[in-house]
Amino acid sequence: MQTKPVNKSGEMKELRNRAESFAALSCEPGSTLVWGEGALDAKIAFVGEAPGDYETRLGRPFVGPAGQLFNRELERAGIDRAEVWISNVVKCRPITISPSGRAVNRAPTRNEVAGWLPYLLEELKIIGPHIIVCLGAIAAMALISRDFAITKQRGQWFDGPLGAKIMATFHPSYILRVTAADGEEQQEAFRTDLAEVKKLSAVS
Ligand code: URA
Repeated sequence: MQTKPVNKSGEMKELRNRAESFAALSCEPGSTLVWGEGALDAKIAFVGEAPGDYETRLGRPFVGPAGQLFNRELERAGIDRAEVWISNVVKCRPITISPSGRAVNRAPTRNEVAGWLPYLLEELKIIGPHIIVCLGAIAAMALISRDFAITKQRGQWFDGPLGAKIMATFHPSYILRVTAADGEEQQEAFRTDLAEVKKLSAVS
């Protein structure tokens, strides 16, 4: 029997088009889809929580201050951003309006996570990474277990979706916040986790 040639780019485009329609129905007014980016044959996929202001403006994940910290730490770990896949569980910015009328980030709701999860799983199926890294608790609770405890369980490997190994580490925004207030320990943990990811990627 002949096997169908893999057309990851076409499959991803088709999925993204469907996600655009879902975003048009479900995102906050003014919030637009921020799809994943990177190498379609990536061995490693990083999954964050949801795009913020910079990401929404540029239409790319992890390009604001947290993204810059993430880029520096990837480089330090010897992981090339161009060779990995980077995405989010929720693919448009969850906002709330402050009393002064400004749009401010909020955590995604359970419904938002549940609504976007099938898109994330399909996206990961197309990429087929050997390693999935959850950046923060929202991704870990969506992909590892609902009661995931990030401070206790970060840095541990689990069996993830689609045969991948999966680990959660701290969210880069959290590292930004704590390093501004003496958070060397968390930064070290984040670095250790990325080093472990690099180590496993070399043999998988
Ligand atoms: N935080 C996230 O979780 N994702 C982004 O893309 C940017 C910031």
